[in-house]
Amino acid sequence: MYKLFFRLVFTRMDPEKAHHLAFRWIRLAARVPVLRTFVAAALAPRHKELRTEAFGLRMHGPFGLAAGFDKNAVAIDGMSMLGFDHVEIGTVTGEPQPGNPRKRLFRLVADRALINRMGFNNDGSLAVAARLATREPVFRTVVGVNIGKTKVVPEAEAVADYVKSAERLAPYADYLVVNVSSPNTPGLRDLQAVDHLRPLLTAVREAADRTSASRRVPLLVKIAPDLADEDVDAVADLAVELGLDGIIATNTTIARDGLGLRSPAALVGETGGLSGAPLKARSLEVLRRLYARVGDRITLVGVGGIETAEDAWQRILAGATLVQGYSAFVYEGPFWCRAIHKGLAARLRTSPYATLADAVGADVRKPR
Ligand SMILES: Cc1cc2nc3c(=O)[nH]c(=O)nc-3n(C[C@H](O)[C@H](O)[C@H](O)COP(=O)(O)O)c2cc1C
Repeated sequence: MYKLFFRLVFTRMDPEKAHHLAFRWIRLAARVPVLRTFVAAALAPRHKELRTEAFGLRMHGPFGLAAGFDKNAVAIDGMSMLGFDHVEIGTVTGEPQPGNPRKRLFRLVADRALINRMGFNNDGSLAVAARLATREPVFRTVVGVNIGKTKVVPEAEAVADYVKSAERLAPYADYLVVNVSSPNTPGLRDLQAVDHLRPLLTAVREAADRTSASRRVPLLVKIAPDLADEDVDAVADLAVELGLDGIIATNTTIARDGLGLRSPAALVGETGGLSGAPLKARSLEVLRRLYARVGDRITLVGVGGIETAEDAWQRILAGATLVQGYSAFVYEGPFWCRAIHKGLAARLRTSPYATLADAVGADVRKPR
């Protein structure tokens, strides 16, 4: 049904307009108590065996919504209603900004991929913090807050901009993510170099501790799949050195590998980050490399090209405690989470592992 609807309606609409339409429906459904209870019961059944713990937080399961879908924290209950076990909001920047001019989101349907150059369109840290402060949650959902740099802020003042967001948002975040990996803010990915990353992460850690004195907010960094292998290792080492809680691998890619020849060249040539199926192999590779380096010392979050329960399972075996997705949700629709959960529970049951935690990294730990 969804796929037919997608073909007949969504593919004829501008992708960003389709996103806003679907988003509005989700938010509306979540506001009607009878409807949301019914939808949640149908789409978000909780499998006991999938219960997960990551950086001290308990979740119904390992599968969450990646950053970028709910940039302004307006649909957390709606996404939870659809089955996402955690919701990462953002990227939120220090100051509000409109993002890049439209068109800035493109569907490569034949490749089950998206290209976006949204450019962190968001309401800014003050407005999002106020929204989170007054939110009355319906579902118990872990909320991650992903922060990035305001475009007009010069690179020399980037740390102060992140600190501003961290101070305002950490009090409402179950975990905080420093995003240094979006390809759509000039210079942002240069912050992944350890010389830049060390002072940035240290300052954000201090800001979070200052403003959330009663608890230690878990801090993660989100990295790009385009880092060279030795740079992945360097970030992993730095994360261990700084006592970071997690690494999210990966953001979108500027590469165009993994695309079939089916998507029109004009679309493939659009500037921006590529996500979805073509990203799968590299994201998995980066995750494996990270796990081989950090083992169980740091929690890893696998994201990039996850479409099926098997993909999610492979990420867990490669070292991910949590997995996330975005692009496949656009193609698969509201039953997607349900299928992932069902498939993950079935895989765990027939695996040699007693718990999901036992399966984390099992493929990398295996002697080859
Ligand atoms: C339209 C769009 C907007 C995104 N915006 C953000 C963002 O604001 N911050 C961020 O960290 N990642 C953002 N991402 C990246 C996703 O969180 C995710 O890392 C990436 O899409 C790979 O996962 P996927 O293949 O399941 O989509 C965005 C992705 C898409 C498709």
